[in-house]
Amino acid sequence: MSIGTPLSGTATRVMLLGAGELGKEVIIAFQRLGVEVIAVDRYDHAPGHQVAHRSHTINMTDADALWNVVREERPHIIIPEIEAIATHVLADIEAESMATVIPTARATQLTMNREGIRRLAAETLGLPTSPYVFAENFDELQQAAASVGFPCLVKPVMSSSGKGQSFITHEGQLQAAWDTALASGRVNHGRVIVEGFIDFDYEITLLTVRARNAEGEIQTYFCESIGHIQQQGDYVESWQPQPMSDVALSKAQHIAKCITDDLGGLGLFGVELFIKENEVWFSEVSPRPHDTGMVTMASQRFSEFELHARAILGLPVDTRLEKPAASAVIYGGLDASALIYDGIEQALAVPESDLRLFGKPESFKRRRMGVALARGEDINQARERAKTCAGLVKPRV
Ligand SMILES: Nc1ncnc2c1ncn2[C@@H]1O[C@H](COP(=O)(O)OP(=O)(O)O)[C@@H](O)[C@H]1O
Ligand SMILES: [Mg+2]
Repeated sequence: MSIGTPLSGTATRVMLLGAGELGKEVIIAFQRLGVEVIAVDRYDHAPGHQVAHRSHTINMTDADALWNVVREERPHIIIPEIEAIATHVLADIEAESMATVIPTARATQLTMNREGIRRLAAETLGLPTSPYVFAENFDELQQAAASVGFPCLVKPVMSSSGKGQSFITHEGQLQAAWDTALASGRVNHGRVIVEGFIDFDYEITLLTVRARNAEGEIQTYFCESIGHIQQQGDYVESWQPQPMSDVALSKAQHIAKCITDDLGGLGLFGVELFIKENEVWFSEVSPRPHDTGMVTMASQRFSEFELHARAILGLPVDTRLEKPAASAVIYGGLDASALIYDGIEQALAVPESDLRLFGKPESFKRRRMGVALARGEDINQARERAKTCAGLVKPRV
């Protein structure tokens, strides 16, 4: 494996499609290895734009716009960081061997739609999932909910970060759930999945890396499990390692191996799993670093972003945990642009703490603007520290 010199004819060029807070860290990891990085996002001054060699602002669901930027920049490697992309363009690029799509164009197509990945996991691979039925109109939704049973969740097939999801305990809530799903689904309006509610003890993200070993073969490596708490479908806190039984851990790793083997390619995946005692259910998978995995910037020898960059380049990985750690999200708390963050010196006075402020130009009440990280002797201490650190950061206009 060799790497050229950025901004020269020998450069190794990587293009990030999506340059939010996760993409920003992936870009920094590549920059450190001397890779030339091009960041693409839908708005100017996105977090990743601020650390890349070049940046572009386009609508990535627009096939022509996507083609134009790829033709102009001629990247060797294309790394989707978000789901809302014209993925058929990625399939054409891959088919014509114009660039390597991470992990594969097919993986990006399957995971951008809940239907693709759910049918693959449950029906093709036979992995345990919540019971589910798809529906395309309100009548079908009523039938689907009746067959899945209550409580259940209604989710647009194309959505992320909990958008458009409703938790349903009785039939009377279905109309509101349908309206919510319609209003906030990404594209493909009006198709939803109804999922039976799993009353889990805890949920984890199992970061799973497909990387080359010393023999040059692709091998699967696991990070320690990450526990997390979700509010309104969005993560607010995560920690690593999540204590779990040997049985549950080996089931979780088996599921993660099955699904990532099928998706193929190189890189890091975030496999989301629900656990109750020794039972494990597959929920979904991101073929890229996961938001709950930001904790690895404090806990591991190499963060999930560095592991992703190394795996993609065909370099060796080391998924070792160094010390228990936690992350806590910092929300904007107000709708405004050009926020000022007060209290940084108090926040960083918390022992073993660190901060990432993403530099997003625009804030909403529930927009993730930063994250606090902290190590501790155990996850409880780390969680307390991360929450304290996050709480001391005061966004204002
Ligand atoms: N079937 C389910 N049973 C119980 N909780 C669920 C179920 N589906 C989703 N959740 C909860 O909602 C969160 C977000 O759901 P998820 O399907 O991961 O949506 P997104 O793609 O927006 O992340 C999950 O992390 C979990 O906490
Ligand atoms: Mg999720």
